Amino acid sequence: MTTDVTDIGVGTIRQGIIGGGFMARVHAGAGRTAGAALTAVATSTADGAARAAHSLGARRSAEALALVAAGDVDVVHICTPNATHAALATAALAAGKHVVCEKPLATTAAAARVLAAAADEAGVVAAVPFVYRYHPMVREARARIARGDIGALLSIDCAYLQDWLLQPGDDDWRADADAGGPSRAFADIGSHLCDLVEFVAGEPIVRLAARTRRVFDERGGRAVANEDIAAVLFETASGALGTALVSQMAAGRKNALTLEVHGSARSLAFAQERPEELWVGDRAGSQLLLRDPATGAPDAVRLQTVPAGHPMGYVDAFAAFVADVYSAVRGEDVDGLPTFADGLRAAVLTEAVLESARMREWVEVAP
Ligand SMILES: NC(=O)c1ccc[n+]([C@@H]2O[C@H](COP(=O)([O-])OP(=O)(O)OC[C@H]3O[C@@H](n4cnc5c(N)ncnc54)[C@H](O)[C@@H]3O)[C@@H](O)[C@H]2O)c1
Repeated sequence: MTTDVTDIGVGTIRQGIIGGGFMARVHAGAGRTAGAALTAVATSTADGAARAAHSLGARRSAEALALVAAGDVDVVHICTPNATHAALATAALAAGKHVVCEKPLATTAAAARVLAAAADEAGVVAAVPFVYRYHPMVREARARIARGDIGALLSIDCAYLQDWLLQPGDDDWRADADAGGPSRAFADIGSHLCDLVEFVAGEPIVRLAARTRRVFDERGGRAVANEDIAAVLFETASGALGTALVSQMAAGRKNALTLEVHGSARSLAFAQERPEELWVGDRAGSQLLLRDPATGAPDAVRLQTVPAGHPMGYVDAFAAFVADVYSAVRGEDVDGLPTFADGLRAAVLTEAVLESARMREWVEVAP
């Protein structure tokens, strides 16, 4: 890591953010919490970049490709529409920068594969914010499954439901396949869900059968080519059977990511809108476990910054993710950091969902 800005402490990580929307704010806040200095912000226009730099508290605005090459940026955070990720991440890796690239890493598995290989080659930290991994109770579930608490994995029931595209007048760049990619609901939020399934269960999805549905063929006066809803049946490596429903048209559901895992001994359930809790299901005496650094698994405890009863949520999970990225940049070993390889994995699963829906048959998912 270089340090050539005199009024930034030696060893301070210098963050550059591309994008000035929702996620740019979240990445800036998480970087600040992790002790980074936000040196530059770029968006698609010079005016937008100046406004975003001001509101995010950056030292300066920049043009995107200048930012990735800048001497006062150590880690490039890419928070732009999906179709721009591959080119920006490629440029950042070529400049030798550590990269945090938003999901989906790329809009095709082929492009994600190239990025994962380039990140390996560059030998830098290259991470994708599959941020739900950073809820302490998710780590608790993962640790309990890894130590055999639930017995043999039997089945998985999961969903990611939102409603912000329920009406025909609801629109966003994600509904434009040129900006969002050929998959919308699955790439946008299903990618989080399948990452979490494999992360918590500790085994991969090996085959799946999917149906997708597009409810409105037009939004914002242009044709829509990607899906609103995906329903997926899947099988994991040990033979567990799973169901996943992903929708951006589920009225009343805002960010309802749920994951329930059933084993031969007991079940576990996590709901991201109630992140302080983990349900432990038993034939007799089910329990609702509350987050508590005094009682959790070590990997869950390390992510807890406040005592029990002081609710932690999405922003805390994001801060923990960015803190882990920066620890990795400093050369520390961190457990469970989602990397470009995980971004590639989600892109492979997304393509398998689209292929299965198109062919109307089960497809094998490449390892
Ligand atoms: N990890 C998560 O929890 C999470 C949550 C929401 C969104 N995301 C991802 O974050 C990314 C951004 O989403 P958002 O909701 O912040 O979008 P947004 O629409 O709020 O912001 C996008 C920003 O990118 C800028 N931009 C567009 N094209 C650009 C270009 N070529 N160069 C530079 N800047 C450009 C725009 O000016 C805008 O400021 C998406 O890939 C999305 O999938 C991740």
